Amino acid sequence: MKILVVGNGGREHALAWKLLQSEQVEQVFCAPGNGGTATLQRCQNLPAAVDDFESISNYALALGVSLVVIGPEVPLALGITDFLQSKGLMVFGPNRAGAQIEASKSWAKGLMQEAGIPTAKSAVFNDAKAAKSYVKSQGAPIVIKADGLAAGKGVIVAETVEKAQQAVDTIFSGQFGNAGKFVVVEEFLTGQEVSVLALTDGMTIRPLLPAQDHKRIGNGDTGENTGGMGAYAPTPIITKELRDRIQSQVLEKTLEALQNRGIDYRGVLYAGLMISPEGEPKVLEYNCRFGDPETQVILPMLESPLFELMLSCVERRFHRVAPFSWKQGAAATVVAAAGGYPGEYEKGKVITGIPQAESKGAIVFHAGTELNNQGLVTNGGRVLNVTATGKNFAEALAIAYGGIECIKFDGMYYRTDIGHRVKLTVNF
Ligand code: AMP
Ligand code: GLY
Repeated sequence: MKILVVGNGGREHALAWKLLQSEQVEQVFCAPGNGGTATLQRCQNLPAAVDDFESISNYALALGVSLVVIGPEVPLALGITDFLQSKGLMVFGPNRAGAQIEASKSWAKGLMQEAGIPTAKSAVFNDAKAAKSYVKSQGAPIVIKADGLAAGKGVIVAETVEKAQQAVDTIFSGQFGNAGKFVVVEEFLTGQEVSVLALTDGMTIRPLLPAQDHKRIGNGDTGENTGGMGAYAPTPIITKELRDRIQSQVLEKTLEALQNRGIDYRGVLYAGLMISPEGEPKVLEYNCRFGDPETQVILPMLESPLFELMLSCVERRFHRVAPFSWKQGAAATVVAAAGGYPGEYEKGKVITGIPQAESKGAIVFHAGTELNNQGLVTNGGRVLNVTATGKNFAEALAIAYGGIECIKFDGMYYRTDIGHRVKLTVNF
């Protein structure tokens, strides 16, 4: 079988890497891919942007691709699944209607309220005056969100009423385009964030290992928000009891609510949860795709063949597939970022030391790299995801950090405290 993965980040490198471990998969194509997928054996990059549906469809048909796997949210929200399905292709990833769960926060909030899914109290506004007076009535801290996709920049956690009101103005100023037509004002929640990614065929939904991302740029979860600076799985705070609760109160209820809206949702449903200090899960957001960098720690732990799982979701026979099989132990990934990220940063810096990191047992997924006539160079803010599995967190983290220390590029930055919350729950 030949598979086409759409996207160019660390998530897509991890997907290609894992798919190639399925016996039935002979080749993977990536559109457009990166320096990592360019050098992966039996993997080939295709020059098509993620929103160039016509080219992606032409390649898939010409190359005899059996399944197209969609990585990022933007093409899903634009309806890539509907388009490729109309050409007779099999697609892993929800259709445009399903992708609204990520593409519109107000839509997702409505769905949660209707279905009684635990989430923060919120209100939706289409004008600044009403939003600001609501903010004033609620007080701070408070969370202001642009309704639509804003590349991770549309959420402002405001410590003061003034900052929250400024955030309302910023969103309505037009800076986010259509994504800023509505503003969601939300109660501030405290606790630990956990990402629960589930696979579904629209009828059955099952969670993968819970993972924890590290969204802030600085050690100790300080500084600006980023796409994610590291992750680990499984998160020890998700006990069996909590997992069962998330399954019945969040995942199954969400799927039922989607069904009630006539949506045939097949792919990944990602619930970003806040676990309160009392152990109550509440949904912060949904994503309609695999998380990045969570995927880079979940897939190395997965022993079941990914291609077969995805195909069973697309063919709506997921309930007949055996439960997921997981490696014992833990996985961790540390992101090597370009200096300046998440602000301005330079590209084109030569990267060295990856073979040395690999010889120490690390798996190096490429996030923002490119292979050009200078060799492997940086091509994004998050550059590499240095990943490891181990018999426990201490071992996985030691291998990942041992690996990242071998790698060099001009301006390279990484957090040195990935997994710090694990130490609160597990001794090592
Ligand atoms: P989202 O894109 O909705 O996940 O928001 C991005 C980040 O903002 C989350 O990962 C949280 O760290 C934070 N956040 C979002 N909503 C809330 C909330 N209601 N309370 C506290 N923090 C939040
Ligand atoms: N790691 C957060 C996300 O993928 O949205």
